[in-house]
Parts: sequence; structure tokens; C-alpha cells
Amino acid sequence: MALHRRIGILGTGAYAPAQILTNKDLEKMVDTSESWILERTGIQERRIIGPDEDIATMALAAGRQALANAGIEASRLSFIIVGTNSADYLFPAAAIRVQDALGVNRQLAAFDLQAGCTGFNYALYVAEHLTAPEGKYALVIGSDASSRFTNWTDRSTCILFGDGAGAVVVGPVPQGGIKTSFLASALSMKLLCQTEFNAENSPFLPPHQTTHRHFLTMDGPEIFKFAVNAVKESIRRIVEMSRIEREELDYVILHQANHRIIEAAARFAKLPLEKFYVNVHRYGNTSAASVPLALHEAVTEGKIKAGDKVLLVSFGAGVTWGAALVIWSY
Ligand code: ACO
Repeated sequence: MALHRRIGILGTGAYAPAQILTNKDLEKMVDTSESWILERTGIQERRIIGPDEDIATMALAAGRQALANAGIEASRLSFIIVGTNSADYLFPAAAIRVQDALGVNRQLAAFDLQAGCTGFNYALYVAEHLTAPEGKYALVIGSDASSRFTNWTDRSTCILFGDGAGAVVVGPVPQGGIKTSFLASALSMKLLCQTEFNAENSPFLPPHQTTHRHFLTMDGPEIFKFAVNAVKESIRRIVEMSRIEREELDYVILHQANHRIIEAAARFAKLPLEKFYVNVHRYGNTSAASVPLALHEAVTEGKIKAGDKVLLVSFGAGVTWGAALVIWSY
């Protein structure tokens, strides 16, 4: 599809639930230690969604903030896209619940998109290509509540994840914008979460053979290797496609899964660690929310300025991976 307009990020927002779960708290729940978690992951604490919240309420809070920061009214949006892996309902989409809460029913198209922790990069890519031909606006959100399908008796996974949401408004920009982006995927069953939605009441399927089907399971070391390679490939591809030198990258917002993955990625990419934003210690892995939540904090802290070449990179279950090079517009 030919891109007619330069599309960029106009504003960011984020939301993190109030409840904090520390490593010390986890010591009381599973056979682990504060120091093991910190050494192996860099995570100190993560947020847990409240009983009255869900991915749509978190998405709405982040989305409202992004719209306010962009100075764009919801009525000017043409699309709302939520990247998520923890839908409370198979339907309606969380994006439509956000649309309703913003008071723009019937005025735009809203839908969810599932691509593991790469969900935000996927949603951003789709939004870029939907808005570019006619210079439209889209609200792009990553929102996940992994705590709702985490097995809280499995120490190898429950220490890693946290809940939250992040959002951006995309639309036409006079300068800068998304310069290059790509997505990729390949089947891997090493990070798995089966649903319990099907089979239970169907007379056409055998009864469940296993319990805990809906809990997330993971081959941590294999995912670690995949993650580092995915980041390496993402940076190489973006550098080639944009015809820039990797040293020209000003800032990298990498999926916050594990501090050791961020360190390894920086090493392989031959980029200083200072160019990588880090908040994994405060939120853990917030899945599709991770990149927009980190981006919002980096912008708020003044780490990103107009003209900066900012790389947004993520990887996740599927497996999926992808990146976007954004020349910051404001
Ligand atoms: N506390 C104490 N010990 C533990 C814990 C824990 N919470 N979890 C595992 N261990 C033990 C294991 O049982 C193992 O013991 P053993 O040697 O006696 O068998 C030992 O620690 C080492 O386990 P490993 O799995 O080899 O540890 P590793 O250094 O690889 O760290 C980790 C595990 C943190 C999960 C790491 O592999 C990792 O971060 N992988 C990537 C995970 C990830 O990022 N997933 C999501 C990406 S995609 C997405 O975001 C959806």
C-alpha cells in the first residue's frame, strides 16, 4: 500500500494499577527469594489489576491520557486498536468498550489484535498503514492483565509478569514520523497459553484431558535465546531498511521482559546500555503494554526530544517480533 502521508506519534499515555506486588511478597507465595528474582530478571516489583478493573478500563485510562497529551479529541479518531492477550471477553473487543466510553460509537472502527508481547508493535504497524493514505488519526493501545492467567503456584513464570496499559495517538505529522517498520512471526509452542473457552460444553469434542490449560507455561531459557536473537535481527533489519548507521539511533524502547535480555540486546547491537530505557524493575513484563508504557515514561522524563531517532522493538509469544523506527515529532 502506498503511504501518502507522513504518520507519527502525537502523544502518549499510560496506566498502571495501584496494587504493588514485591519480590518479598512473592517469597510468601512460592519457593523463591527476593535476590534470585532480582539477579535473574532485574524485576523488583510489578502491578496487579484490581477486582473492578480489566484490560478495557486500563486501556481507557491510558488512551484518555494519550489523547489529552496529543491535543486530539476522540471525535477526530478513525480507528481504535487494542493489542492484548488477556481479553476478558472473546467479544465484544476491548477496543469497542474503549470506543463506547469515549462517546464515539458509530463514528469509527475499533478492534483488538493479539500478537503476544509484540501486540503494540503490531497494532502500531496496522494503524500506520490504515491512517497514512488519507492522513487519519488512530488511538493505539497495549493493555494486558497477565495476572489473570498466571499460575501463582509456578515460580518459573509468576515472578515475571505484571499488569498495565500504554497508549499513543498516531496521525499526520509535518516532520519526522514513522520512518521504517516491520513485523515477523513463526510458530513456537515454547510459550503457551491454552484457552478454556472451547471444549467444555461441546458434545463434539473429547472432555478436557488436562487441568490448568488456561495458565501460561514457558520454556524460559529457550524464550531468552529467541528474544535476544529477535532483537538483534530487528535492529539489523531496521538499520538496513532505513539506511542509517546503528550509532545514529538515539534511543531504544525495548520490550521490558528481563533486564538481562536488555543487557544482552545492547551488547549484541553494539549500542550503549544508556540508550535503552529501563522500567522492568518497577513493572515486570507487562506484555503488550510494555513498549507504550516505557515510551510514555521516557517521553515524560524528557529522555526523548524532537528529531530523535527512536526505535520501538518487541518480541513475544507466537513467536512474534517487530520494530518501528520513529523520528520523534515533538
Ligand atoms: N526462584 C528460585 N529459583 C527458580 C525460580 C524462582 N522464581 N524459577 C526457576 N528457578 C530455578 C529453576 O528451577 C532452576 O533450578 P535447577 O537448576 O535446580 O533446575 C534454576 O532456577 C535455573 O532456572 P532457569 O530457567 O535455567 O533460569 P534462567 O537463568 O534461565 O532464568 C528466566 C529464568 C528468568 C525465566 C529466564 O529464562 C527468562 O527471563 N527467560 C525469558 C522469559 C521471557 O522473557 N518470557 C516472556 C517473553 S515473551 C512475552 O513477553 C510473552
